[in-house]
Amino acid sequence: MDDRRSIIVGETAADARRLAGQIIATTACDAVGRHGQFTLALAGGTTPRPLYEFLATPPLNESIPWQDTQIFFGDERDVPADHADSNYHMAQEALLGSVPIRLENVHPMMGDADDLNLAAQSYAEQIVRVLPAGPDGRPSFDLILLGMGGDGHTASLFPGSAALNEADTLVTCADVPVLSRRRMTFTLPLINAAANVLFLVTGKDKAEAIAKVLSDDPAAAAELPAGRVQPTHGKLLFVLDEDAARQTPHHS
Ligand code: 6PG
Repeated sequence: MDDRRSIIVGETAADARRLAGQIIATTACDAVGRHGQFTLALAGGTTPRPLYEFLATPPLNESIPWQDTQIFFGDERDVPADHADSNYHMAQEALLGSVPIRLENVHPMMGDADDLNLAAQSYAEQIVRVLPAGPDGRPSFDLILLGMGGDGHTASLFPGSAALNEADTLVTCADVPVLSRRRMTFTLPLINAAANVLFLVTGKDKAEAIAKVLSDDPAAAAELPAGRVQPTHGKLLFVLDEDAARQTPHHS
C-alpha cells in the first residue's frame, strides 16, 4: 500500500468524527506553523455536520488557529447560500458561525449563479489568489475534506461525469445525472494537488464502495470517482467507522 495512504477505523461514527477532528486540528497547527495560514476545503452532505459541530466546541475549537484559517468548499448545490440544502449554509450553522474566523476568509461557492461556468472560473481564480502553489504549480490546500456517496461519488464528481476528465481546470460545473442538476465542484487535478486529503466515510451503505476504492486493484478503484483521488505529492487519509470498513481488505 502506498505509504502516503492511511486507513483509520473508529468503532463508531462518533469515534471516526473525533479522529477526523483531531487530524484537522493537528494539520491546522502544523500548517500555520509552517507557512502562516491553514487552507481548508469543507465537504457537504450529512456526514460532516457533527464533525463541524465537534470542531466548534471545546477543546478543539480552542486548538485551531481560526484567525489564520481560510475556508473554501469542495462543491455546492445549485441553491442560494441561505437554503437548507446549501453546503455553505450547513457549515455556517454547524461551525463557521461559532468560531472566530474572519468573514473575508470564508469563501462560499456561488452554486446558484446564473452563469455557473463563469462562477466556477472566478472561484478558481480566488483559490489561486489565496493558496500557495504546490510542487506541480497548482494551488495546494493544506487539507481537503471529502465525503463519499454509496455510488463512489465525491464532491460533485459522479460516476460517468465528464467533469472527471478535466485535466487542467481547478473548479468546474458537473452534470449530476441522478439529480438532473448542475453543480459546481473541485476537479481531480485540484483535489490531487492537496497536501492532505481526508475522506470521512461512515455507515453500512458506504461499505461496498469504500472497499472498492481501497482495493488493491487500481483499475477497480479507478472505476469510482473517489478511487480517482490520488494526491500527487500529498497524503491520503481514510477515516472510517466499523460499519463502513466492514468489507475493506486489510481490515479485520
Ligand atoms: C455533497 C457532498 C457529497 C457528499 C456525499 C456523501 O454536496 O453532498 O459534497 O459529495 O460528501 O454525497 O453525502 P452524505 O455524507 O450525506 O452521505
